[in-house]
Amino acid sequence: MMTKKDDSESRAESLLRRMTLREKIGQLMQCDRAEGNEDRIRGGSVGSVLNEADPDTVNRIQKIAVEESRLGIPLLIARDVIHGFRTLFPINPGLAATWNPELVEQGARIAALEAAATGVNWTLAPMVDIARDPRWGRIAESFGEDTCLTSVMGAAMVRGFQGEDLAAPGSIAACAKHFAGYGAAEGGRDYNSAHIPETLLRDVYLAPFKACVDEGVASFMSGFHDLNGIPCTGDAFLLRTVLKGEWQYPGFVISDYNSIQEMIIHGYCADDREAAEKAMTAGMDMEMASRVYETHLEALVSEGRLAPELIDDAVRRILGVKFRLGLFEDPYTDPAKFPAPLNAGHLAAARKTALQSAILLKNGTGALPLAPEVARLAVFGPMADDPHEQLGTWTFDRNIDDTVTPLQALRDYAGDAIRIDYLPVLEISRSTDRSDFSRAVALARESDAVLLFMGEEAIITGEAHCRADFSLPGAQEELIHELASCGTPLVLIIMAGRPLILDGVLDQVDSILFMFHPGTMGGPAIVDLLFGRESPSGKLPVTFPKMAGQVPIYYSHRNTGRPPVKEHFTHIDDIPVRAVQNSLGNESHYIDAGYEPRFVFGYGLSYTTFEYSDLQLSADGIGSEGALTVSALVTNTGSVEAEEVAQLYVRDLVASVVRPVRELKGFTRVRLKPGASMTVTFTLSAADLSFHNPRLEEVTEPGTFQVWIGGDSAGGLCGTFEFRD
Ligand code: BGC
Repeated sequence: MMTKKDDSESRAESLLRRMTLREKIGQLMQCDRAEGNEDRIRGGSVGSVLNEADPDTVNRIQKIAVEESRLGIPLLIARDVIHGFRTLFPINPGLAATWNPELVEQGARIAALEAAATGVNWTLAPMVDIARDPRWGRIAESFGEDTCLTSVMGAAMVRGFQGEDLAAPGSIAACAKHFAGYGAAEGGRDYNSAHIPETLLRDVYLAPFKACVDEGVASFMSGFHDLNGIPCTGDAFLLRTVLKGEWQYPGFVISDYNSIQEMIIHGYCADDREAAEKAMTAGMDMEMASRVYETHLEALVSEGRLAPELIDDAVRRILGVKFRLGLFEDPYTDPAKFPAPLNAGHLAAARKTALQSAILLKNGTGALPLAPEVARLAVFGPMADDPHEQLGTWTFDRNIDDTVTPLQALRDYAGDAIRIDYLPVLEISRSTDRSDFSRAVALARESDAVLLFMGEEAIITGEAHCRADFSLPGAQEELIHELASCGTPLVLIIMAGRPLILDGVLDQVDSILFMFHPGTMGGPAIVDLLFGRESPSGKLPVTFPKMAGQVPIYYSHRNTGRPPVKEHFTHIDDIPVRAVQNSLGNESHYIDAGYEPRFVFGYGLSYTTFEYSDLQLSADGIGSEGALTVSALVTNTGSVEAEEVAQLYVRDLVASVVRPVRELKGFTRVRLKPGASMTVTFTLSAADLSFHNPRLEEVTEPGTFQVWIGGDSAGGLCGTFEFRD
């Protein structure tokens, strides 16, 4: 029986044979918006339109393409559906913080349904760039610093967007971006150069893209940046050797916005013509926004600079996706056939996801959950009642009236039972006007607890919005210090787009609940947590440093020849005056910040406590064939029912390339009643232990491995086993 894919390929092939070279080039062009491009669509000069998400407009332009162009080829309608469409889910680091791929898949499915209703058939997501630098604004679009977590979440998102069958109603094509290494931008400055040795590139940065390929992702997008000196848009190694060669990827690749033309600005191409030639030679199939393919490809082919087969290959890939999407059968949308956006099911999923994304960073005095007898609350801060900012970056299709803010949710919950005194104090996160500080202090004194909603506005995060100082902006820290002197319990709820430096306020507040911008239902999720209807269960997908100068800092670093030893650490203030330089005993740390981050990857507190015991390995070793089972008992030793994310890490002690001190290899979420226990079990095979050796072969080398099961990347129960070839 012929599979859907085979069928798409043969249909694409026969259509290709009927196309002129100009029509083929037309399929490679994506224009931004329909307005002014109607004649191009009619003339067969456009394959895709970006940024149209209105059903009437989409149906109108599809009709032009299908009924008025010579070959009637439907359009790919692309949109950045990044963390929801009308119903907004937490931004991607928040999704990762749930460590719950089922929720991520469900969220992507909901986003696909809401987007598809408008005629969008292609989302430019997921972004699976490894992001280890909080300065980089686009960390807000990432699943964080880890390869395993990003791979699992990226694949879950692809499944959610594309469903089992791309042609089914409500499925949209996904796009793995930004290939590759974009998150390693120098200094965390967006668009900047990435320098990544090939062993690291393959082990850390490419693996999540491969996971998306394995999940059947329909398209790829290249990065704006240069990787080791070659702009990714024109990088034949990435696109031809790895993606289309080694991985045998059947989908197509789109450039980033204007990035083919920007190869001139990089200093990689002299002019548009050279940019077109280099991009096509490298394997770039579709051009976003700029028009150098349209202007130059025909001549480059007729002059023999580009083989016609290269163009055919690109067109075949694009048509293949259009066939798989079923666009030739029906390119139109009828919103009435889709579930209503923001329906109760969608909102419940967004609320649950936001809830599981919340990370309890501190709860020293047990200020959370709020005591039942709380009768009067002071609610302050720029993020308490701002329906736009809590949604985060990339929210083109939202309507802010749909957002439920924490203040609204608190008022709904409290009714007349709790008096709420609300004052923003600071209008936005960057505000420095202190005129309401004294009023706030007076209200705080009269309250049972202060809930402070702070963080970052959406627009100071995301693309091109990088920060060298990533502490709480504006006068937020000062306000915390003022309020701390009141003696009223202070609960800080943060909504931000990146890890923040919190050392300036850590000892000033009783509790900190951190959320990456949580989306439409952030408010109700927060209220559920504040009042203990649920316990926080999110875990950090990225390390939080103490000081910005510690960046890059991530858990899966290498050991060095001089790893830090706690007892040897001498703080800058304690170093003897005029001491003599001496290299013995010196170790890898900062004399001011030390070597530890503020909060480690995988960290997150709960209203209960969990204990790990009874680590069991099914054998003392593993070979290239078998599998090793590693298990441990998790017990809820506290007094409330709660969820815990158990994490599995390994370390290869000796190898031909120095391996990280720990690497995440698995995780699972468990729900336990007080006093209850559950065994968590993970399976490791040789493939889980592999890496790229100096000859760039993927190998698992014989030797001893350590393995941990625990609740974060720093602790856990440790065992060892051997890998024997
Ligand atoms: C971003 C992409 C995005 C594209 C289209 C670019 O600026 O880098 O991630 O998909 O715009 O909106």
